[in-house]
Amino acid sequence: MLSLQESDPGTYTDITIKGLIAELLGGGIDTSAVTMEWAMCLLLNYPEVLHTARAELDAKIGQGRMMEEEDIPGLPYLNCIINETLRLYPAAPLLMPHETS
Ligand code: HEM
Repeated sequence: MLSLQESDPGTYTDITIKGLIAELLGGGIDTSAVTMEWAMCLLLNYPEVLHTARAELDAKIGQGRMMEEEDIPGLPYLNCIINETLRLYPAAPLLMPHETS
């Protein structure tokens, strides 16, 4: 956005950029953190699920490296855990109010 500001300063004002960044931070931090916390809580309360998730990670990723974002499509059990966490404890259960502008 800062490089676009050079070619189109009227659209990409400091206020617009600051607003967009604030929106991403405000919308992205608490939702992700709370969902992660619920996922951990559920895994601790369902140790057999944690065991199966660990087995999937060991089989697909192994012990030699950290999991990367590109690995996610190849981890269906982990995907189900994330979906189930969002279903049971949605961080934003209702859609945001909208109005035309
Ligand atoms: C578990 C994580 C998240 C949940 C449950 C969640 C939930 C939602 C929901 C329900 C909406 C409203 C959608 C609609 O009105 O149709 C929304 C919009 C939005 N979210 Fe998230 N969100 C999450 C993560 C994030 C992250 C990580 C970011 C940014 C990095 C983000 C940025 C936004 C923004 C900018 C909007 C407004 C989009 C628009 O105006 O069209 N969200 N989110």
